[in-house]
Amino acid sequence: MERLERREEVAAIRAAVAASRRVLDVGGGTGELTRAVAAQVGHCTTVEPHERRVAALRADDGQEQAARIEVRSGRAEALPFPDGSFDAVIACWVLPYVDDLERAVREMARVCDAGTPGARVVLIGGTPDNELVGMLNEACVPLAGEAHDHQGYLLGTAARVLAGLGFTDLALHRTEAAVHFPETDPEDRVDAAAAVMADFWYEGHPRVQDMRLALRPVLRRHFARRPHAVGDQGVVLVASVPGER
Ligand SMILES: C[S@@+](CC[C@H](N)C(=O)[O-])C[C@H]1O[C@@H](n2cnc3c(N)ncnc32)[C@H](O)[C@@H]1O
Repeated sequence: MERLERREEVAAIRAAVAASRRVLDVGGGTGELTRAVAAQVGHCTTVEPHERRVAALRADDGQEQAARIEVRSGRAEALPFPDGSFDAVIACWVLPYVDDLERAVREMARVCDAGTPGARVVLIGGTPDNELVGMLNEACVPLAGEAHDHQGYLLGTAARVLAGLGFTDLALHRTEAAVHFPETDPEDRVDAAAAVMADFWYEGHPRVQDMRLALRPVLRRHFARRPHAVGDQGVVLVASVPGER
C-alpha cells in the first residue's frame, strides 16, 4: 500500500461525495478512502468482512473528532443497514471480490436513499488496459486456475442494475494510479514487484512462489517500457438519482 500512489482516485471520491451527509464505504480495507471521505464530510461509515481489517479500522475510529469513522462487520451482499440510510454509497476495488455481483449492487442501491435527488452509488474498478490486472491475468491466474479478471464487465453490469433502480444519471471517468518501484538495480526491482504483486493478490495461496517466478519475465518486459511503475488505472462510475441537491 505504501508503494501505491492514487491521488486522482482519492480526489475523485472526495469530489463525488462532497455534497453528501451520510456516506457508506463498502469494503473499506485499510481505510484510506474511508478516512478521505470522513475528512471531506466529517463522518464516514464503513462495512468490511475481514475481521483483521475491521479491528484495524476500529483502532482508528474516534481518534480524530472532526473526521469520525464508524466500522461495521458485514458483506456487500447483505448490508447491515435499513433502506435509505445513506445519500452516497461508495465501493472501490470491491466488485471483483463479491460472491454475487447483482445482489451486492442491489444492496448498495437499497441502502442509498433513492428519494433524495443527487443520491449516488460510486464505484471504482479497473480499466480494460489496467497494467496490474493485465500482468496478474497473464502470470498468476493460470496458476490459480481462476477465470481472468475482467473489470469492464463488472462496472457495465453494475451500471445496468443501478439504472434499473432509478440511478439513471451515469458518469464515468478515468483515473491514473500506479504502484511505484524505485529500486535502481533492475533485478531487485523485478523481485520486489513480483513479491508485492503475488503476495498482495494471492496471500496464502499454495502456488504463490510459482506466481512470483511467473511474474518475473512479464515484469522485465514491462519495466523495459515503463521502468519504475506499474499502472493501476481505474474507472470511476457515479450513478445518481436525477436532480440537484
Ligand atoms: C482491494 S481492497 C479495496 C479496499 C478499499 N475499498 C480501497 O479502495 O482502498 C478490497 C476490499 O473488499 C473487501 N471485500 C471482499 N469481499 C467483500 C464483500 N463480499 N463485501 C464487502 N467487502 C468485501 C476486502 O476485505 C477488502 O478490504
